[in-house]
Amino acid sequence: MCTHNVTKRLVKEAKINSLPVELKYWPIRRYMDIYKKSLDDIEEFWEQEARKLEWFRTWDKILEWDPPFAKWFPGGLINASYLCVDRHLKTWRRNKVAIYWEGENSEERTLSYSQLHREVNRLAVALRKLGVKDGDRIALYLPMIPELPVAMLASARIGAIHTVIFSGFSSMALADRINDTEAKVLITADGGYRRGKAIKLKEIADLALENAPSVEKVIVVKRRGQEVKMKEDRDIWYHELVKNIQGSIDPMPIESTHPLYILYTSGTTGKPKGIVHSTGGYLVFINSMYQWVFDIREDSVYWCTADVGWVTGHSSIVYAPLMHGASIVVYEGAPDYPKPDRWWEIIEKYKVTIFYTSPTAIRMFMKYGEEWPKKHDLSSLTILGSVGEPINPEAWLWYFKHIGGERCPIVDTWWQTETGGVMISPAPGIGLVPLKPGSATFPLPGIDAEVVDDNGKPTPPGVRGYLVIKKPWPAMLMTLYKDPERYKQTYWSRFPGVYYTGDYCIKDEDGYFWLLGRADEVLKVAGHRMGTMELESAAISHPAVAEAAVIGKPHEIKGESIVIFAILKQDHVPSEGLHEELREHMRKTIGPIAMPDEIYFVSKLPKTRSGKIMRRVLKAVVSDAPIGDVTTLEDEASVEEVKQVYEEFKKIIGHT
Ligand code: PRX
Repeated sequence: MCTHNVTKRLVKEAKINSLPVELKYWPIRRYMDIYKKSLDDIEEFWEQEARKLEWFRTWDKILEWDPPFAKWFPGGLINASYLCVDRHLKTWRRNKVAIYWEGENSEERTLSYSQLHREVNRLAVALRKLGVKDGDRIALYLPMIPELPVAMLASARIGAIHTVIFSGFSSMALADRINDTEAKVLITADGGYRRGKAIKLKEIADLALENAPSVEKVIVVKRRGQEVKMKEDRDIWYHELVKNIQGSIDPMPIESTHPLYILYTSGTTGKPKGIVHSTGGYLVFINSMYQWVFDIREDSVYWCTADVGWVTGHSSIVYAPLMHGASIVVYEGAPDYPKPDRWWEIIEKYKVTIFYTSPTAIRMFMKYGEEWPKKHDLSSLTILGSVGEPINPEAWLWYFKHIGGERCPIVDTWWQTETGGVMISPAPGIGLVPLKPGSATFPLPGIDAEVVDDNGKPTPPGVRGYLVIKKPWPAMLMTLYKDPERYKQTYWSRFPGVYYTGDYCIKDEDGYFWLLGRADEVLKVAGHRMGTMELESAAISHPAVAEAAVIGKPHEIKGESIVIFAILKQDHVPSEGLHEELREHMRKTIGPIAMPDEIYFVSKLPKTRSGKIMRRVLKAVVSDAPIGDVTTLEDEASVEEVKQVYEEFKKIIGHT
């Protein structure tokens, strides 16, 4: 079925690393025509896309734009659960596999669309019986098991708003998010698996609930069968709750601007932001973008390796693929467990056609070597995807050659939790443009993206600037939960009237977009997004730490690693023990993703005269880069100390 056998030639002709590509290729012309037309009248364009979905009632208006607040398709009535499940039951897809689930310990479960319908209904009925009403928030803290998408769809079915909390988060992070949403119900599991080890989710949830009083009921999935404490009147086993439920509940017609979910992400302050996504606009956008980017076909078997706890999982594992009636693979465990060919084995087993993962994973597998994918038949693959961080050309080429057999295009998809769906990416579903390894190519139709300088003026080709989006799009976040001021400030004040992404970007002479990472105090560690302030407040909450500065250091696999510089309180002295304690403290406060790779104890931090920590200086020291301009520095001795501490560290670990 591979229609992309031109890819190899196009990649070659694009001459790796941005040599000019003449616009003689018809796919570029075709793309440009569609793109330009889409921007001439975005409302008309998105209205056509909206008509591709089934609505219970058509909208009164396409867009109510009260900058920077957008309401897409107000008055329209729609339901995500209906579109992802019920609609398919009227077709042959009722017996088609919706979810192939693979447990870490090789257990298997398969859910057809009609089985998915039954599961979603049973839980939706149960939630209603528990008193969940439309608009109520439900927190989901689950491993990668089928109950997670089922719970999202059950919530959507009855108009509740879900907030999924990544199961790697700590009890404190979980409590913060539950408190912010004031969730009434928490759905969790007794435990999960990670590299053969038990993750005690219920225990972590119990700790969180000591400080999260809004939760009235806890529904517990029995995943491992491990012993857990069940609190009377509050905790209920999932299987007992749904056991005797036979009936179904009609999907509730939901007004288009009613929130479908809230998802927390990091920003430049210590407090995570609750990104609010709408129902109608969000579904319209992700439905179209999924077709454009992944060229989804009836016989596609699609596997996105992200965790459902991130936006990639929401849009690209659950809502968009299921709306298209695709068969998706959901894998519970670690990528290289028990052996480094686990993923390649899964691709072979399920004959995956579309595979979507992160640059960190690709770099990790590059290190393991191509002998691992070579053991498996990966010839079912037709399209590969990458997301979450910039992909370096070396990793791109390895992926192209050793996973895609030089036959599958790579869709390098740029987007954010806030954007709801992919914004910049090759779009084989429209027509594949020549690819340049490391470039996300062009914006999707309807997305008015530009690269601008500090004054908001478009940068010349090849010059770095900030990526902005100039027109509203249907899946854009509606606001930040309970904080519209912060929404305005964060995204719409840097360049008035346009959406600020926080990313650096270059547009080359052919108009290709090259994403270069964050321009703000946000780190991307193995694709996980964390704010320096959030990490610093976690470090400072340790009783021995007086002050802390956190920076990201380039890392060959993870993209960036976390480095902490900490000043200790009086009466505390640096020691190996304290070092370990602080690492552990970061894990407990945020989760394993926040474990620093390096910690340095210093007596001063480089600061400006106005007292701002100069993280740039710290970053330069640990990256062995030039320190740059330090004229605003308050005390030069601080830099000397940082350098000295770092040099000593290098000696210890044997660097030259
Ligand atoms: O810096 C960009 C990077 O990830 C950020 C968004 O992170 P998050 O909200 O966690 O969503 C990630 C998954 C959609 C962006 O601001 N990013 C995402 N995709 C790419 C990327 N950077 C470069 N290339 C990409 N393809």
